[in-house]
Order: sequence, then C-alpha cells, then structure tokens
Amino acid sequence: MSKNPKRYTVTAALIYANGPIHIGHLAGCYLPADVYVRYLRMKGKDVAFISGTDEHGVPITIKAKKEGITPQEVVDKYYKIIKDSFEQFGISFDIYSRTSNQVHHETSQEFFTTMFDKGYFDEVVTEQYFDETAQQFLADRYIIGECPVCHNPGAYGDQCEKCGSALSPTELINPQSTISGAKPVMKETKNWYLPLDRMQPQIEEYVNSHKEWKTNVMGQCQSWLKQGLQPRAMTRDLDWGVKVPLEDAEGKVLYVWFDAPIGYISMTKEWAAQVGKNWEDYWRDKENTNLVHFIGKDNIVFHCIIFPAMLMAEGSFVLADNVPANEFMNLENDKISTSRNWAVWLHEYLEEFPGKQDVLRFALMANAPETKDNDFTWKDFQTKNNSELVGIFGNFINRTLVLTEKYYEGIVPEAGELQEIDKNAIAALAQLPCDISDSLKNFKFREALAGMIEVARLGNKYLADTEPWKAIKTDEERVKTIMYVAAQISATLAIVCEPFLPFTAEKLYKQLNLKEWKLAGDTGKPEWRDAGKPGLLPVGTKIQADGLLFEKIEDATVEAQVQKLLDTKKMNELESKKVPELKPEIQFDDFAKLDIRVGTILEAEAMPKSKKLLKFLIDDGMEKRTILSGIAEHYKPEEMLGKQVTFVANLAPRKMMGIESQGMILMAEDADGSLALLQPNKQVWSGAGVS
Ligand code: MF3
Ligand code: ZN
Repeated sequence: MSKNPKRYTVTAALIYANGPIHIGHLAGCYLPADVYVRYLRMKGKDVAFISGTDEHGVPITIKAKKEGITPQEVVDKYYKIIKDSFEQFGISFDIYSRTSNQVHHETSQEFFTTMFDKGYFDEVVTEQYFDETAQQFLADRYIIGECPVCHNPGAYGDQCEKCGSALSPTELINPQSTISGAKPVMKETKNWYLPLDRMQPQIEEYVNSHKEWKTNVMGQCQSWLKQGLQPRAMTRDLDWGVKVPLEDAEGKVLYVWFDAPIGYISMTKEWAAQVGKNWEDYWRDKENTNLVHFIGKDNIVFHCIIFPAMLMAEGSFVLADNVPANEFMNLENDKISTSRNWAVWLHEYLEEFPGKQDVLRFALMANAPETKDNDFTWKDFQTKNNSELVGIFGNFINRTLVLTEKYYEGIVPEAGELQEIDKNAIAALAQLPCDISDSLKNFKFREALAGMIEVARLGNKYLADTEPWKAIKTDEERVKTIMYVAAQISATLAIVCEPFLPFTAEKLYKQLNLKEWKLAGDTGKPEWRDAGKPGLLPVGTKIQADGLLFEKIEDATVEAQVQKLLDTKKMNELESKKVPELKPEIQFDDFAKLDIRVGTILEAEAMPKSKKLLKFLIDDGMEKRTILSGIAEHYKPEEMLGKQVTFVANLAPRKMMGIESQGMILMAEDADGSLALLQPNKQVWSGAGVS
C-alpha cells in the first residue's frame, strides 16, 4: 500500500441481478463510491471504477423459480434495469459488467486452478443436506433455519442477515428446504475447501495492519477472528454458476462468493481492453495501486476476510487497502424489504421525480448510514430539499446571478479595495475545499457533504452581511467588490458540489460560463485544486441564470409517497392475515335450527351514548322488529335506510342499553377488521328465508 498512490482501483459491490435497486443500495454503497471516485478524478488520479451484476448463486435460481422463467432470463432482465438506474443517477462506473461473461468464467476458473495447483484446497467428502423431494443438494439460500448465534428463525444456510454471522447449513437449528419445505436428509458429496483455519495468522496480520478501517468494519472482522475461522467450501452442488475446472467435479460449480469478487478483476480486464490500458496495473502493481471496496455491511466478511484470503493464496494480486462499508438504511422506521415491497425503487423515483436525481443523492448522503443504521423518511427528504438545497444552495446562486444580471448585465465586475469582511470570506473559501478533502479521504461522506453546503452558507451569509441590494443605493463601487466575491464563491461551490451533485454542477458550470474560467490544468474541466482559488472566475466573464437549480417540494407530494407506503403496509397485513380456524363440525339438524331471513330496513338511528351500536326497525314480512347491531363504526344510519339485510330471526331476544334486540344482522369481517353487510344479490321479498 502506498499513502499517495499512483492509481486507485475502486469497486462497488456486484449486486445480485435478481431484482431492481432501491435507495438502500444507493445510500449504503454506490453513492459513497461515486462521490469518492468523482473526487479522485478531480484530483487528477488514475482511477478504475468497477462494478457490475453478480449473476450466479442461489438467489438467482430462487428468483427464476418464483417468476417461472430461466435463471438466464432473470439475469438478463435485471442487469438492464439495474444498469439503467445507476446510469440515470449518475453513478460514474468506468464499466458496469456481468459475471456471466466469458472472460469472467475464464478468470475465475484460472484463479481456482492456480490455488488448486498450489495445494490450497482441501478435498473433503462431507454429508450435506439434500432435499429428497426436489432431488437436490441444499446449498446456501436453499436452506433456512434458526441462527445458532442470534436465534433469528429465518437465517440462511450461508448467512444470518440479522446478526451478520456467516454460517454453513449444518449449523442451522431446525433446517428446512426452501424449495419444497421438506426436512432435508444428509447425503455424501465431495467439495473443495479453503482452509481459513490454517490461514488465520496471515489474515489476522493483514486485518490488524489496517487500524484505520472504520469501526463497524473492524468490529465485524475482530469478532470473526475471535470466533476462529473455519474451513469454507468453495464449490457447490448446483448447476447454475461457473463450472469447477476439475475432472472429477461433474455437476459442481464455484461457490458464488468465490467467483463474484473475482468479477472485480475480470471486469477490470474487460474495461482495460476497451480503453487500451493494461489491467494488470490496477491489480498487480502492489506498490502503486490502492484497492478500495465499497460494500454494505452484509458483505464485510467476504471482502475483509474471505476474498483477501483467496488473494493471498493466489498470490499475484493486491489486497484491499480499505473497505469502507456502510450500515443499512431503513425506510420510514422499518427495514427495507424486497419481499414486502418496503422500499423506494430507483426506477419508480425517476418516474415520479423526473430530473431530481441530485435531490435524492443529497438526501441519502446527508443521512447516510455511515456508523449505524439510519432512517430515510419522506419528511426529511422534503426538509433537506427545501431548507438546504432550495433555501441555502439555490438561494445563494440565484441571488448572485440575478443581482449580477441586474447591476452589470451579467458581467463579473472588477473588485475594488478589499475590506476585512471580504478578506475573511476569501480566506474561508480557500479553507473549505481542504476540509472537504480531508473528510473524503477519511470516507466521512456526511461530513464532506456538510462542508460543501458550508460553502453555500458562507455565500449566503456574505450577501446577508454586505447587503448589496442596499449598498447599490449609496455606494455603487462597493457593490462591484461584493458581487465579484460572490461570483468567486459560486464558482468554488460549483466545483466542490460536483462529486455529490453532478447534475447540478453541470448546470452551474454552464450558468457560470466555465469556458472563461482560469483553470489550473489543461483538461478544460475544473479540478479540485481550482476550488477556492482567488480569481477563478475572471472579471469580465458573462454569467447568466437559466432557471432555478432546485424547486420546493410541496407537502402534498411527500404525503402521496407516505400514503403509497401505508397502502403497501396494509396490503402486507392483509396478505399475512390468516383466516379464522374452523369451528367443530355440526350436523344438518344443528344447522336447520337456525332461521335466517332477509329483511328491509325501514328506520335507522344511532344509539345515544354508544359508539358501536345502531338501532334498526326492520320489515320482516310479518310484523316489524327492532334489531341492534354493532356496526356504527362501519356504516352511517342514513346509508342503511332501505337496504336489505340478512338476519338470524329466531335468536332469543337480548336487552342492550335498555332496548330489546330481536335478532342479529349478519356481516362478513374483512382482514383489516372492517365489516361488510351480507345482502341477497337481487331484491327479494321481505321475510324471504335463507337456506
Ligand atoms: N451479490 C452480493 C450481494 O448482493 C455482493 C457480491 S460483491 C462481490 O450481496 F464481491 F462478490 F462481488
Ligand atoms: Zn443471527
């Protein structure tokens, strides 16, 4: 590792191509990765930003079964959707590829073979769980059971998502096949194991040499090491995946967590070939290359222990310098869940908030789960937009552009003699980009984002303190200096916002006429070192507003989003609700004793002092009768008038609140507890018998 490396290989987790992506993915992994990479590029670093889809493993085959299509169809479908969402949100991968590509199969097989030839695998025959109904071994997610560590009843055969423990199927308590629900049996099979137990000292040394890793990451690593590493099978009895490159491995594929991280390497190869670079620079130049993995917390063990162990064993590649994993983002106080549809899907957001990618980027980063799980709420999204983006950022830029337009036809004026307040603003402006840099280098993205907004805040405060709109009446020369300084702050803001808000930066560069700027380099694009530089936006540059950068988001808009989630919750409740258990069997004679009839409601009124009861006068074809019914929370008296209802006519009368009820109206109870009247589906005569 080098402290000031020549180049960076930055990876973002290869997400399973078994569903679209949501805000949790963006906040946890892809946004911080993108901000970091954009920053590095602006620093003039040589960066490869690599990601793609993980197209193997049980999660894919399970999804295929569920949708009734082939695994290949699953990955083709979701690769497109995922890639498109990332593009739309400006995640600036150098390549977004797939592990189903030929080069990936070859690269991972070669990797396996090298390790095999070096004698790194233990060939072990074990008894594995087998589903006799499905005639299949039950690897990883094909099996669920109780987690031996935290006792979560829904732990998978490879991992408990609740406590993050990596598991093997035989550790689960009460295992169950997710294919057939059957209790699995044991059956012998041969697999190839990575002896993590024997490698523990090396791995420990590696992890412990990285005291700078985030606390949440280091914590998980240490707890793993403390438990003692166990040998882990790197092959599986499955037919979907990369074939094990050995003769006696018919019907076996590489473990998905073996091939997937190698995807970072194979995708780098693809990219390098496309752009005429040497992929080995990014993976084998140990002295000059920093490898950084961006992931979510459920991937920590694989990137900090298992993949490094593989890399050590293979021997020719760099190891990760840092693995800045985030915790999870919740949504409106509940865990994001694909199966419960509790998520904000990126493709839906794009439809509902067109052109507002930067708003979501901002809201998610401001609240990123960097040190602990965090919560995304629509209310907070609205506040972040309205008070910070509109109220601070947009407001400052707008005032600067509008006033410059008004006083100087949009031409940046020449400054006169600087006063204390101007000098202070210029000094603060020079310092802020350094602070933001420090935060970014330490993977403190929230802090960095706050530093970016601080630039806009500085501008706002400067205008509020100097009040050019007042000064223009008394001291026209002074206003030139003020607007000159404001223009410099705007230009720096455009630069420092680029990693976070790339779409906004583009607009600003245009409005501030980037072509005229005095840039340090010759790339024609601002670089990080330009930020805070005096005279960046030269006197005489024509600047011009072109619409507002941000728009206020109304209450009704976010309320509609919350309502959408509430509807989802209700649907989930309905779906999970069980129908009542059957009552004990009765004979026909028992049934025949019931006299059920149809009557017509003649009068209906609320019962005084009762929230539940309504009082009805019913035409039963004989005389009239009074019936009390507990439906006041579901029906209004006036809407009951004239309705036909079904009632039990021979129920012994009962007194309620001083009134005798002569029967019982029949109702169906819905899953949410609401009641529905039972009515004949055509008008019948009052008193009609029901049988
Ligand atoms: N597919 C995994 C997931 O979605 C991540 C794989 S990351 C890689 O959780 F390193 F394996 F590529
Ligand atoms: Zn657990």
